[in-house]
Amino acid sequence: MFTRFRRKRINPVLRDLLQETHLSVNDFIYPLFIRSGEGIKNEVASMPGVFQMSIDEVIKECDVLKGLGIYSIILFGIPDTKDSVGSDAMCEHGIIASGIRAIKEAHPDMFVVTDLCFCEYTDHGHCGVLDPVLETVDNDITLDNLAKQAAVHAKAGADMIAPSGMMDGMITAIRDGLDMVGFSHIPIMSYSTKFSSAYYGPFRDVAESSPSFGDRRSYQMNPANRKEAILESLEDEKEGADILMVKPALAYLDIVRDIKENSSLPLAVYNVSGEYSMLKMAAKAGVIDYEKVMMETMIGFKRAGADIIISYHAKEVAELL
Ligand code: PBG
Ligand code: ZN
Repeated sequence: MFTRFRRKRINPVLRDLLQETHLSVNDFIYPLFIRSGEGIKNEVASMPGVFQMSIDEVIKECDVLKGLGIYSIILFGIPDTKDSVGSDAMCEHGIIASGIRAIKEAHPDMFVVTDLCFCEYTDHGHCGVLDPVLETVDNDITLDNLAKQAAVHAKAGADMIAPSGMMDGMITAIRDGLDMVGFSHIPIMSYSTKFSSAYYGPFRDVAESSPSFGDRRSYQMNPANRKEAILESLEDEKEGADILMVKPALAYLDIVRDIKENSSLPLAVYNVSGEYSMLKMAAKAGVIDYEKVMMETMIGFKRAGADIIISYHAKEVAELL
């Protein structure tokens, strides 16, 4: 006997008609890592298919992305020099400000998001200015610097700002900072619920941003906390965030659903470096059907409640859509 479930699974056309969740190339933001120089495209061993690129290479890469229908990118910078405050990140001639200007000049139709943080720019690798007594990031001094960094990005032509540092009050500080200098039209996508995660390991190879001492547990969230995860995102909504985010994605799909149900704001997930590398390495070892596992993972994000997926897989997904 075919009963009410199986009779709807026999015909492939009907199966498609009944599909509840869909993926589109419009769901994706693709991360890019920019460094100085020319003609540089260095693959990172821990993330096959992911490169540190000089600005000219990033401009070429945007042609490839547009050919695939991907018009949104998020930029990370690898500066030539690092110091205790991360000055390059607040400098109009810094790697990201220069990158944004060049990309927007060559590709005005590209939607350029910038990651707003200091860990790639500080010599100690933490996400802001250090408090020497507490040996952790000083929250309020870092807020002032985040507002400066946001203004530099916006002036250079960034279309959206994405603060990832998990400082308290960061959305208020950045919103006020942007509004004051004439950028009230620039939206903020907050890394609102970001966990202190070992899944960021490969990213820190690409971005050269590992902390030189300790870890990020005094500012990023404890992976064990669900109620706090919801409060973190709701706080950023109150402060004026336009889009919320859960990061990492795969081990936190319960949190994605929780936040989706507690807020009406659009929600992004960050399918992070470790999640990407696990699939790549499993594919290399010949133990999974890479494309199928990748697509199943992406549909899982959407089903859990994600509106936007930030992913290193975006190009490969676009090829299959
Ligand atoms: C910077 C930042 C990190 C990631 C995105 N922005 C690293 C970190 O917090 O250490 C991780 C992304 C990834 O793993 O793909 N704060
Ligand atoms: Zn950081």
